[in-house]
Amino acid sequence: MSENKNNPTALTVEEGKRYCWCRCGLSEKGAICDGTHKTADTDKRSLSFIADANKTIFLCGCTQTKTPPFCDGSHNSL
Ligand code: FES
Repeated sequence: MSENKNNPTALTVEEGKRYCWCRCGLSEKGAICDGTHKTADTDKRSLSFIADANKTIFLCGCTQTKTPPFCDGSHNSL
């Protein structure tokens, strides 16, 4: 079974910790920025955010969300 890159990535986050959401679509870690954008031919940069609680979140994988970095279901209409 193959993963659809557009699907959201579930991530368990810790309150107060910073995370970086990939907006370039080139990260080997899916929706988590791995720094690939720094050496790729793209002007897109990651979006960092600080978790407001200990919880599981769903990061957008298609980069079309209207509520970045969180999935809003936009991948369902691609
Ligand atoms: S690797 Fe995509 S924004 Fe950093």
